[in-house]
This record gives sequence, structure tokens and C-alpha cells, in this order.
Amino acid sequence: MKIKSAEFIMSNSDVAKCPKSMLPEYAFIGRSNVGKSSLINMLTSRKSLAKTSGRPGKTQLINHFLINKNWHLVDLPGYGYARVSKSAKKVFQKFITQYFALREQLVTAFVLVDIRHNPQPIDLEFMQWLGENGIPFSIIFTKADKLKPKAIDNHVEAYKAILLETWEEIPNYFITSSSKDMGKEDVLGYIDSLNLNMKTD
Ligand code: GTP
Ligand code: MG
Repeated sequence: MKIKSAEFIMSNSDVAKCPKSMLPEYAFIGRSNVGKSSLINMLTSRKSLAKTSGRPGKTQLINHFLINKNWHLVDLPGYGYARVSKSAKKVFQKFITQYFALREQLVTAFVLVDIRHNPQPIDLEFMQWLGENGIPFSIIFTKADKLKPKAIDNHVEAYKAILLETWEEIPNYFITSSSKDMGKEDVLGYIDSLNLNMKTD
């Protein structure tokens, strides 16, 4: 898919105030600092469409971007950086869960995980929560430039093994690097195919 236009629309802490339009929507979620905002810039080939920072907690609101005038990309705040809580649920900002529970336009979520780390309970619990709430999701492994190809394979295999303990099938997954433009066509092609499916439904 070619990105012809990418515009910032609005920021919100209240899902009720998000754009009313029923355009198909794709949301990026994951731990703080995992690279959500960087990935959005990489996908849209816009250096600073979404604000990024080396310090966790940069994105604090629900940010809507309009792409090619026909779908929305959503940058969300990260979960789980302030404090490691016993229950991951307590850490998720309320409006993030409200966003996922109420946003009917959402076609799929992309859950970002840093490819360098072992599977983290907070991410697995978030995926579990999405599954329980019937929200489709894919996994996006980020920062693949930080590992050698063999290590990438090992980390992905380890992740799959953990997922198969609770899931019957492995969700779609993508291996990306925002600094190396890696995985861009795969993610955009996937979004394109979902957008096309919606039109023929
Ligand atoms: P919050 O908004 O705080 O939740 O973070 P975020 O998930 O939006 O992360 P952000 O995109 O702001 O990136 C966090 C840090 O990781 C920044 O210092 C980025 O430069 C770095 N980063 C993001 N993606 C990549 C990547 O693919 N490779 C490398 N090496 N660094 C990356
Ligand atoms: Mg961010």
C-alpha cells in the first residue's frame, strides 16, 4: 500500500470523544517505550507524525491519524511502566480498556513486543484480555535491528511456544524495525487486505 496522505486528527483521553466516523481503524498498543509511535512514523514514512521519546510514557492520550483519507491509525499510551503491579489490569489506564471495549470501528489491534525480551506476563495478560473480549489482534515484534537473524528466530520461536500454552493458534505476527524500515510492506499489506475485505463484506 502506498501512503499518499497521513494527517493528525485529534488526541483524547475519552473514547466517547474520538472521531465519530466509521472508517476502519487500527490501533497500536504495548508497553511504554516498545516503539509504537516510532512504528507509526515508519509505516507512514513521516519522521515526526507521532511523537517519540527515549523516556517511557511519552504518549499519554489516544491519538487518531487519518491515512489516505480512508482509514485511521491510532497511537495509544503504553501500559505497565509506572509500577509493576500484581495485577496487570490495574496498570492499564482505564481509557485504554474503554477504547478497546467501545471502539466499534476497530478492525484489529497490533500488540507490540520488544523482540529482545522474553515473553512478559503483562503482554500475555493483555493479549488474553483482548481474546476474552473478542478483539482481534496481531503481534508486532519491534527493534529487530538490535538482534542478529539467528537470535530473532530464537526469540520468535520462544514466544510462539509460550503462546501455544494458552492459545490454540499463533496470532499473525510481524517482525519489524523502525530504524531499518523493516516489516513495513508486510504490515501495510496486511492492513490493505483487511480494508479491502471490509469493502466486499
Ligand atoms: P510510549 O509513548 O512512551 O508508550 O512509547 P512508544 O511505545 O511510543 O515508543 P517510542 O516510539 O517513543 O520509542 C521509544 C524508544 O525506542 C525511542 O528512543 C525510539 O528511538 C526507540 N525505538 C523505537 N523503535 C525502534 C527500533 O525499531 N529500533 C531501535 N533501535 N530503536 C527503536
Ligand atoms: Mg508513544
